[in-house]
Amino acid sequence: MKMILRKAGAWLEDRTGVVSAIKPIMNHLVPPGAKWAYVFGSATLFCFMLQIVTGIGLALLYQPSSEAAYQSLRFITDQATFGRVLRGIHFFGASGMVLFVGVHMIRVYIMAAYKYPREMNWITGVLLLFLTIIMGFTGQLLRWDSNGVWSSVVAAQNLGRIPLIGTTMARLLLGGDTIGAQTLSRFFAYHVFLVPALMFAFIGFHLFLVIRNGISEPPKAGQPVDPKTYRKWYEAMLKREGVPFWPDAAWRDAMFGALVVIAIVGLAITIGPPALTQPPDPSIINTTPAPDWYMLPIFALFALVPPKTEPYLIFFGPILAVGALFALPFLSGTGERSPIRRPWAVFGVVCVVVAVGALLLVGEIAPWSPRFDTKPLATVVSYHDPLLERGAILFYKKGCQYCHMVHGEGGIKGPNLSVIGRTWTANQLTVQIVNGGGNMPAYGGSLNNGELHDLVAFLSAQK
Ligand code: HEC
Repeated sequence: MKMILRKAGAWLEDRTGVVSAIKPIMNHLVPPGAKWAYVFGSATLFCFMLQIVTGIGLALLYQPSSEAAYQSLRFITDQATFGRVLRGIHFFGASGMVLFVGVHMIRVYIMAAYKYPREMNWITGVLLLFLTIIMGFTGQLLRWDSNGVWSSVVAAQNLGRIPLIGTTMARLLLGGDTIGAQTLSRFFAYHVFLVPALMFAFIGFHLFLVIRNGISEPPKAGQPVDPKTYRKWYEAMLKREGVPFWPDAAWRDAMFGALVVIAIVGLAITIGPPALTQPPDPSIINTTPAPDWYMLPIFALFALVPPKTEPYLIFFGPILAVGALFALPFLSGTGERSPIRRPWAVFGVVCVVVAVGALLLVGEIAPWSPRFDTKPLATVVSYHDPLLERGAILFYKKGCQYCHMVHGEGGIKGPNLSVIGRTWTANQLTVQIVNGGGNMPAYGGSLNNGELHDLVAFLSAQK
């Protein structure tokens, strides 16, 4: 038996040369100091592989048509064996991928590993970052629930605002003027064929470059990169102190990757995938599209900037961001790598991380969106006066409470009205309600006199 196996192995190796191709990759020398900070790239790769496996599993059951998509996802979530876990892994795998791409990028930036000769490692990495974001964005629409669809509507509307090319780009993205059956097929093709194919190609190229240019050595202050001498110096350093990639460096990658996979599966089993909201229905506008967390900073940014500047932001923002990221290795491709000698670079990345974190937080609270899930006041507070009770019911029924908070219930798009009766007279209240203004709709046409009276009486009593 052993003989047969050995013979078969020798035959395969003779005809394919797989082992002799992989051996030098596994044995190649890497700098000795490459420690735990270096595991995030491979952690991203582990997540990606998880996405491929679970993605194929999901695609076996998913039906990419606007009539069937939602139901097939319901089926996957509620009935298919392990379907819920499968969706969960795919969701947390995506989250993990975005997270680790970000951390990997920050690590590379702080250690200035993008400098000579690794400029192209950085550039392919930037492309992979965008492809990852596109995967998240297109995947969300495939859920085909109101959340996913409305998030894409918002994105397409923003895209449509770009001067000159916006409408064409939005049409290209959606496969038509509005979101419909075409959009779903198109996003399915992007998410399952086009973008993964690009990702495979660029990941392959990225890894090839990592091996060809070598893993960057941990930076030392006072040891600047000089293109004239760097490669020679690096070779000599590897000969002197290098350790074989397998197992000396790779065991950390393998161990961290295994932990990541275990964590993702654990989250998928305990928390599970995000619940599907109701099926998309253009006539239901009582919904606040909340994209997945990694999209929130972008949504929050657009919600916060003054509406007039949005077309410029959507046009110049990505161009500036992509431009800056691509230009980085050419602007500072040589010189000091140590973060101690690059305080402004470190300060800059801290600012970016804080800003993105803050946007994520406000995006989570979404003070600019009405809260449609607020509970009717009359069920929370007991009003003994029938007039006040009528007012409280109207306050909810007419939608005031989606934007205004009273006694801790309600939205925060408009001012808190818990003590409005102290400062506003009945007249002022009437004028505000009838005319609206600011970001408040005018209610003159949709309230009769009795309702208006009850509402004003209710608000006047809030002291
Ligand atoms: C879409 C969200 C929204 C809805 C719905 C809404 N409001 Fe407002 N409301 C606002 C905003 C925003 C302001 C602040 C306007 C401004 O700054 O000029 C405001 C201001 C007010 C004010 C003045 C308070 C102050 O301190 O400035 C009153 C009173 C008020 N709303 C009552 C109501 C009532 C009653 C209803 C229901 C009939 C209602 N609002 C529905 C958003 C809303």
